[in-house]
Amino acid sequence: MMGRFQFPRREPLQMKAFSFALALLVVPTLALAQNASRFDSGAKVFRLDGGASSYAFGVNGRGELQQLYWGGRLDANDKFPQARPKPGWASFDTSYNNTPQEYAGWGAGLFVEPALKVTFADGNRDLVLHYESHTSTANGFDVVLKDIARPIFVTLHYAMDAESGILGRSATIENRGANSVTVEQAAAAAWALPAGQYTLNYLTGRWAGEWTLNQEEVRHGARVIESRRGSTGHQSNPWFAIQEGPSNENHGSVWFGALAWSGSWRITVEKDQLDAVRVTGGYNPFDFGYVLKAGEKLETPVFYGGYSREGLGGASRILHAYEIAHILPRTAATANQTAPKPRPVIYNSWEATEFRVNEAGQMALAEKAAALGIDRFVMDDGWFGQRKDDHAGLGDWYVNKEKFPNGLKPLIDKVHTLGMDFGLWVEPEMVNPDSDLFRAHPDWVLHFPGRPETEQRNQLVLNLARTDVRDYILGFLDKLVSENDIAFLKWDYNRNWSEPGWDQLPAAEQKKVYVSFTDNLYWILSELRKKHPKLEIESCSGGGGRVDLGILRYTDEVWPSDNTDPFDRLTQQDGFTYAYTPQVMMAWVTDSPHDLEHQIRVTSIPYRMLSSMQGSLGIGADIAKWTPEDAATAKRLIAAYHQVQPTIVQGALYRLISPRDGSEFSATQTVRADKGQSVVFAFIHSTQEGRGFPTLKLQGLDPAAEYSLSWIEGKAQPGTPTVASGAWWMNHGIDFSDSFRGDFQAMAFRLDKK
Ligand code: GLA
Repeated sequence: MMGRFQFPRREPLQMKAFSFALALLVVPTLALAQNASRFDSGAKVFRLDGGASSYAFGVNGRGELQQLYWGGRLDANDKFPQARPKPGWASFDTSYNNTPQEYAGWGAGLFVEPALKVTFADGNRDLVLHYESHTSTANGFDVVLKDIARPIFVTLHYAMDAESGILGRSATIENRGANSVTVEQAAAAAWALPAGQYTLNYLTGRWAGEWTLNQEEVRHGARVIESRRGSTGHQSNPWFAIQEGPSNENHGSVWFGALAWSGSWRITVEKDQLDAVRVTGGYNPFDFGYVLKAGEKLETPVFYGGYSREGLGGASRILHAYEIAHILPRTAATANQTAPKPRPVIYNSWEATEFRVNEAGQMALAEKAAALGIDRFVMDDGWFGQRKDDHAGLGDWYVNKEKFPNGLKPLIDKVHTLGMDFGLWVEPEMVNPDSDLFRAHPDWVLHFPGRPETEQRNQLVLNLARTDVRDYILGFLDKLVSENDIAFLKWDYNRNWSEPGWDQLPAAEQKKVYVSFTDNLYWILSELRKKHPKLEIESCSGGGGRVDLGILRYTDEVWPSDNTDPFDRLTQQDGFTYAYTPQVMMAWVTDSPHDLEHQIRVTSIPYRMLSSMQGSLGIGADIAKWTPEDAATAKRLIAAYHQVQPTIVQGALYRLISPRDGSEFSATQTVRADKGQSVVFAFIHSTQEGRGFPTLKLQGLDPAAEYSLSWIEGKAQPGTPTVASGAWWMNHGIDFSDSFRGDFQAMAFRLDKK
């Protein structure tokens, strides 16, 4: 469709600057940091090299685009012969099925997962895509395919990142015919691996229980991870990593990918009839149907893929650095910088006051927060409309006069006087039936006329696909941010879709809602940021229900879970970091026990602080009730965190000991090679049967350099050196077996290069 919102593409110059930062974080030798994309016209082979990986595909003798290679970087002089289709297997699996197609049309008897399936106006549903032409782009190629008879064109976009070797792939599907075509299934890309034994890693969860890492053998048939919910979902996340052989954190080949889409999505991992593996991902085909009228185009989301030979740890380090350099948005202050700035340490009112916010109470909390060294004060739900609980008010984005008789200004001024900036909670896409907005516009919600409208948390979903709704949302947000000095919005989204009707459109076109809703969400975020270049935004969806590389282009951070229990968070954060950088991983210290969000156990302030300090730190406790000792401990640790935060959130992450599978212990380490700094966190669940904490062997240090050890929390066992070489810390390691014991214990230290 013409004029559809396009993903912003960074300027080549900026790419260079970001790439340099990546080199510092991930790739030790700048020699590798060269992007090369070449087309061998004789063999008809396209090759893309970046970081430590290479990707190649070619035009085979039938004219199909066939994958040739994805893996470790090849020599520049290595040459691929022309692609040869795989033979058929008896009369049941044709060569078309067995050949790894770059982007297979459903036609010619295709039984494996198609990338594209369409129905033409005359009922024909056969689509066979052949190479037509290509152009070279700054970082790769645009390769045009066309159906063998009909004017359906598909342009495959390939962009290789020089430093990380991450390849961004997407497709533009264009109807150049005179009649409409319905797209019933459209992938962003299909990735192929040769026949072999592999382990699939993927993330699943539920509300307050997100980020469970699943590891299982890739078996015959298909493993589908997906969301049919209209948004990304807590239940599955659009990320995968496939390891050759069993999973290993530090060693071995891993191919990984992440889909940049916040609407319904699907990734299918398929082991086919000849043991080869294909990963196809894009729009979820369930209930999908996008009508392309004559001349219209559909541009799919981007599916990013990468390769590491350093196990799952290597894979996530590459992805984190890429996210920091190329995905996360920049504000006015960081527009030309290689990385976004580390997140301010926030205070959030939700667990302290829930909906009972008012001027005096928030001012009192703000004073307490400032005394701890907090950078940003965020007022959560409850400040607007007739919002006393979750039954009313969503949609009415005016300040509640009973709670804030003079508007938000006195509170915001107070927060500024205390040396913090101000953030506010909003849930723009939702409406309570008990609201002025719904009474005025009952037709603005997703619904099927004459059918019940299913409420969840007493709310309905506004149909952002409608331009009037889209403009209303941008309008009120723009007004709110223009009239108040707001540095940050916590953008929430507290339910999934039901009855996804869009009755403004003819029946055949209504399923476009799956694409247009999310496109308009991105458009609103993008326009709002353009109008307010200093504004920062968090993506929250009842915790981690909308975390993906699509929303992360427009949001500076995410709320990983409503579960703020510090022990549960260790496992959640471990899972989260397989796909997403600690830079975006907000983590609050809350009260324990606390009856709101599953905070059932009692843990110390240092334990809670250190659990949260592994990501972007916040405090969400009722700090008015803290003892002076609690406040002093938190203040000391916030100050210590501020000193090392860039290393923690933007360094290379090593998951030294995983808390998964009931482990008694866990530990993480981050390294900023360019700053010569490393930070280590270690946790004990419960020491059992006298077992001491395992010797910690660090990673990623310069073996020849000297590092001094200093404590953030905890103490050394007698005999531990305060200065030693990187080789010592990595090979000999650090023994804590006698000094670090007990239940729910935590310690943290830093190493600084001398
Ligand atoms: C969601 C969020 C919470 C809080 C509440 C407010 O559950 O995840 O952090 O903002 O909404 O209603």
